[in-house]
Amino acid sequence: MTTRILAIETSCDETAAAVVENGTTIISNVVASSHDMHKKYGGIVPEVAAREQVRSIIPVITEALEPLQNRTAESPNATIKREVDAIAITHGPGLIGSLLVGVETAKTLSLLTGKPLIPVNHVVAHMYACFVTHETNQKPGTKNQKVAFPAISLVVSGGHTELYLMRSHTDLEWLGGTIDDAAGEAFDKTARLLGFGNGGGPAIERAALTVSRVKSQASNIALPRPMIRDESFNFSFSGLKTAVLREWQAQKKHAPQYIAHLAYEIQEAITDVLVHKTLRARKLHAAQSVLLSGGVAANTRLRDQFHTSLADSDISLHVPPPALCTDNAVSIAAAAHFAGTKTVWSRVTAHPELSVEIGQ
Ligand code: KG4
Ligand code: ZN
Repeated sequence: MTTRILAIETSCDETAAAVVENGTTIISNVVASSHDMHKKYGGIVPEVAAREQVRSIIPVITEALEPLQNRTAESPNATIKREVDAIAITHGPGLIGSLLVGVETAKTLSLLTGKPLIPVNHVVAHMYACFVTHETNQKPGTKNQKVAFPAISLVVSGGHTELYLMRSHTDLEWLGGTIDDAAGEAFDKTARLLGFGNGGGPAIERAALTVSRVKSQASNIALPRPMIRDESFNFSFSGLKTAVLREWQAQKKHAPQYIAHLAYEIQEAITDVLVHKTLRARKLHAAQSVLLSGGVAANTRLRDQFHTSLADSDISLHVPPPALCTDNAVSIAAAAHFAGTKTVWSRVTAHPELSVEIGQ
């Protein structure tokens, strides 16, 4: 039997809605972002994000339901009643104003249509992008294979660097996370230092692409790999940011070539730590699959390093296409399908501080 979920995601500056069948088949995927509106402030302004959520939420949900409408003037509620089995919603962690818009909208839709609600943890949802059917970039034309358990799952985004052991959909254990800055934050802060404004990780990646490995080794820029040898599965990236600042201040001139080399080394340092610690967790727990997700998983160098490290093994690597790495509602629907619990609308509330340390 086919299960169809309408999912809504509003935890930060993206307003997203999607319809997904059986957690794997995407019927629609709509994302509106207020990212550009925050540029002039040098970071996300929660009030601006929340206001844009209010503006976008109904049009985004309406568009996500379009493929299921049987006539153009049909109301979204009528479409949900006929075509959807449950409504999934991100209930945290995230910005309270943004979360409230999605949660209250989902509760209202649930009340009006009689469909159950499935609350979903945003960080856990990131890893479920790996379960959605997509073309793999390893062998073009092939679909992603099934995730074999136990799996090690690394979620790397702007706010999170979390490592999990996934024994099954219902047995998830948090192994460690960042004790200060997240990997995405390290990309974003160092990008600003290098003069890339709010371009963040994608700007560092673009600059790094202009440098070859051989040339970079000759640049003599040596950045630390924080906590790479530490026994725990925790991460720390604030020291890297300080090292980049010192390196920058020690140089009198910041020629474009130097900036590109520094960008390359920043990407190498972050990538090395993420790959090394994830693979150590994989080995320790004899995991059969590695899952990589979250905005930073869109980084080509990180994806390539994981592919290369696991190429000659029986371990399968699962990385969503870049559009499903950053915030979206497809992942919310997949998480709801595989690991969610249906409940009544009155039991769901927004939890900005919702814990990601599951199974502790
Ligand atoms: O998952 P996401 O869209 O939002 C959060 O939940 O945080 O992740 C956004 C983060 C930002 O820090 C951004 O700089 C980073 O993902 N990011 C990248 C790349 N694309 C996005 N970092 C490195 N390389 C990329 N290509
Ligand atoms: Zn996210």
